[in-house]
Amino acid sequence: MKAENLAVLGLQWGDEGKGKIVNFLADRTSAACRYQGGHNAGHTLIVDGKKLVLHLLPSSICHEKASSLIGRGVVVSCEALFEEIKEIEPYANGITERLKISPACTLIQPYHILLDQLKEKSNSFTTIGTTLRGIGPAYEDKVSRKAVRIIDTLNESKLNSKLEETLSYYNFLFKAYFGEKELTFNEIKDKNLEYGIKLKPLLADISSEILSMNQVNKRVLFEGAQGALLDVDQGTYPFVTSSNCSPAGIASGAGCGPLDVGYILGVVKAYVTRVGEGPLPTEIKGSLGKEIAKKGGEVGATTGRPRRCGWFDAVSVKRIIQSNSVSALCLTKIDVLDCFESIKICTEYEEDDDQKAFAECMELDNVNPKYIECEGWSEPTAGIDDYEKIPENAKKFVKKIEEICGVPIDIISTGPDDASTILLNREI
Ligand code: GDP
Ligand code: IMO
Ligand code: MG
Repeated sequence: MKAENLAVLGLQWGDEGKGKIVNFLADRTSAACRYQGGHNAGHTLIVDGKKLVLHLLPSSICHEKASSLIGRGVVVSCEALFEEIKEIEPYANGITERLKISPACTLIQPYHILLDQLKEKSNSFTTIGTTLRGIGPAYEDKVSRKAVRIIDTLNESKLNSKLEETLSYYNFLFKAYFGEKELTFNEIKDKNLEYGIKLKPLLADISSEILSMNQVNKRVLFEGAQGALLDVDQGTYPFVTSSNCSPAGIASGAGCGPLDVGYILGVVKAYVTRVGEGPLPTEIKGSLGKEIAKKGGEVGATTGRPRRCGWFDAVSVKRIIQSNSVSALCLTKIDVLDCFESIKICTEYEEDDDQKAFAECMELDNVNPKYIECEGWSEPTAGIDDYEKIPENAKKFVKKIEEICGVPIDIISTGPDDASTILLNREI
């Protein structure tokens, strides 16, 4: 086994099956580290036949030999974190002994959640279809240098002055702009102090933890949340989340060097899904889209909203692969396409000159996708763990994606559980 670090992250609009794959690979690593996002994520794992959905905890959490790290790029809701620990503890003994959190993480506060909700329901702002978890406003505070970080909850006078500055700004906004009630300082301060006490035993210098592991040849897995097309810089702006979910976010959000991520596994679904607003060029409208959504169980793991479905979009994925040093792909949910007569792959956007010139902006509202058609397969792939047993046409579909994307497919997933996985590269 190679001792290099690896990253597992989505290359589409999230929900590619990252949680399953991180849990599958966790026993090959010494730690998994979340480096961005917050509890907007919903990562599903099947552990001993039980379905678990993780929002903040790394998807390695059920592996007792692996540490679970939350890096400084994550925005942490203490309420969500402690609720999740309580909920997952029965399936993962001793979580708090192997969970380590960076004191530099930004905390999600009640005013972030309120602002997220008010903006989403106001007619004066573009509706993004956020998860309403306060993610965007928390990152806004971080970037505008007024965030309350975990470390601040350990020092009452520092917390007081930070909260006073920030809350007076938000209360002005709530009252004067939105005509809402102000939030109470003492209540928020007391909660922060209480959480500070609970968090203290979990805090660690995550950057040094990664370095020390690497120095003794132990590898770390970086777990992305959301997907590269929801990345605030590379995604379909403004219909994106507020962090760098792409590989670019790993160094800053986890605290390692950019060259320390040796192998980058991009997880892609055999089709695409999107939850929330924003362009989805290959969207399949009508009954076929609904059928895929039904077969794929495409309902948001965090918000329960239905996911829109579309054909595999090789144009956007290829762009992400090429500009993010992606090493290989993990293709998930091919079983969902079992028994369709014909399956499409988008290989080109028909665009005018302006659209081509400004492709970097990823404004995909008016692109016209062009497709190739692959013949479907009539025998099921669901549950198969051996490439040789995959029907010929399914192999052709996999090879086609590999050829168009220009990187190898190292893992194929044929079902939600670990057993339904084909590992094509045993070096991972
Ligand atoms: P994540 O956010 O990328 O971790 O993905 P989600 O957990 O939000 O959504 C993926 C869904 O597909 C979950 O319900 C998984 O249990 C399920 N899943 C993952 N891989 C496969 C697969 O290969 N086949 C099928 N049928 N379901 C899968
Ligand atoms: P995982 O990690 C799919 C979407 C929201 C919305 C946009 C912004 O499970 O793949 P936010 O609350 O982040 O400000 O919402 O991003 N979104 C996701 N979509 N999977 C996710 O996470 C998502 N996290 C956020 O639906 O469109
Ligand atoms: Mg998800």
